[in-house]
Amino acid sequence: MKLFLDTAHLEEIEKASEAGLLDGVTTNPSLMKEAVEDLHRERGDEIELEEYIERILEAAGGLPVSLEVTGHTYEEMVEEGERLYDRFNDVNDNVFVKIPVNPSFNGEKRTYHGVRAIQELTNKDIPVNATLIFTPEQALMAAKAGAKFVSPFAGRINDLIRENNDVEWQKGDYFPAKGLEGENDDNGIKSGIDMVRECVEIIDKYDIEDTEVLAASIRNKRMLREAAIVGSDIVTVPPDIIEDSLEHQKTVEGMKSFTDDTVEEYAEITGESS
Ligand code: E4P
Repeated sequence: MKLFLDTAHLEEIEKASEAGLLDGVTTNPSLMKEAVEDLHRERGDEIELEEYIERILEAAGGLPVSLEVTGHTYEEMVEEGERLYDRFNDVNDNVFVKIPVNPSFNGEKRTYHGVRAIQELTNKDIPVNATLIFTPEQALMAAKAGAKFVSPFAGRINDLIRENNDVEWQKGDYFPAKGLEGENDDNGIKSGIDMVRECVEIIDKYDIEDTEVLAASIRNKRMLREAAIVGSDIVTVPPDIIEDSLEHQKTVEGMKSFTDDTVEEYAEITGESS
């Protein structure tokens, strides 16, 4: 399983890369907004976002970095996808263009625009990450259109099921992979992880070799584990989930007892400096 970092913060990408834990990066306009706001706080008005994105692409060292379009129509999305790719892919040959599977909103119906844009960019050899996927059938359509990655948003499906069932929650809370008790699902999907599992099953069953399932909207380390167990090809997580995944109270306790038990004779052999 490949581990992607879900962030537009350069230092976080560098840190994960140094630790050998980076297989790629995903961004979206909300993550870009957070990074830009932080840059403004640090540097005032003068920020060079283009140069910052170039540094992200360099830090990812040739591993895939998804940059999302902001347009809402087929024409806008293809034009923006080409612009992003032409502007940035020369830096490290690692740009993936993120296209919403269906950009309809605010009463504007653009049902086919996403898949048409995916197909058009794929035909131009621009790799696409199909985003905002909330059903296995959307993933199937995006894969058929040629998307290299299909990104089911696991956490946001859990949010929806909780909303529909008046369950209160905080963003990092665990949601059971088997769903809530009773018939509380979203059109047969019991949880975000259930959706990821069905996406994997469909893409595998039909041997869609050019498409990988990228589990997104992962909210805690247990979801990361469950996405890995159901066989997601890629899981993208915010940096704090990587840190959290490396922690356990018994690891800390074990460190203390091994340190306390280190006799001088053994320390001489290991060459312990303290
Ligand atoms: C990544 O590709 C997604 O944009 C991201 O994982 C969404 O996560 P969120 O639902 O926690 O905002």
